[in-house]
Amino acid sequence: MTTTEIRLHINGEATTVHAPPLRRLLDVLRDDLGLKGTKEGCGEGECGACTVLIDGEPINSCLVPACQARGTSVTTIEGVRHESLLDAFVVEGATQCGICTPGMILATRGWLDDCRRRGVTPDEPSARQALAGNLCRCTGYGMIVAAVLRAANEEA
Ligand code: FES
Ligand code: FES
Repeated sequence: MTTTEIRLHINGEATTVHAPPLRRLLDVLRDDLGLKGTKEGCGEGECGACTVLIDGEPINSCLVPACQARGTSVTTIEGVRHESLLDAFVVEGATQCGICTPGMILATRGWLDDCRRRGVTPDEPSARQALAGNLCRCTGYGMIVAAVLRAANEEA
C-alpha cells in the first residue's frame, strides 16, 4: 500500500510517520504510535471518544485522514499535563468504564483554553455546549459537568 510521510507535532514532540494518506489519525495514534489513551467508540464521528486537540481545537480523530494532520500540533490525553483537570474527574467521580473520559478531558481542555483566549468566564451552559459532542453511556452528565466546572474554578 502506498504510504506518505507525515510530519507533525504530537504532545509537543516533532514526529514523523509513514502511513497511507487516508489512514485515520485515530489509527496512527493508537496503532502506529502506541498512544492508546485515545479511544474508539462509534468510529463514525458521533460519540467523541476519539477526541484529540489539533492546533488547540477538539476534533474527532476517527474522521481525520492522517495526511490532513500534516504540519499540525496534536494533543492526546497522554499530553495533558494539567493535574487539576485530571484530578477534577477523579474527585467528582466523573468516570466509570472510562471509554469517554479521555475525549471528555480533551474537549474540556480545548474549551477552557478557548475561554481564556477570548476572555470569557467559563460557566455551566457553555460547559454543556462544549461537551455536547461527547457521549457518556455510564455516568449521566452531572458528575462530568461538576468535574469540568471544578477544573475551571481551579484554573481561574
Ligand atoms: S470514535 Fe470518533 S466520534 Fe466516536
Ligand atoms: S464512563 Fe463509560 S461511557 Fe462515560
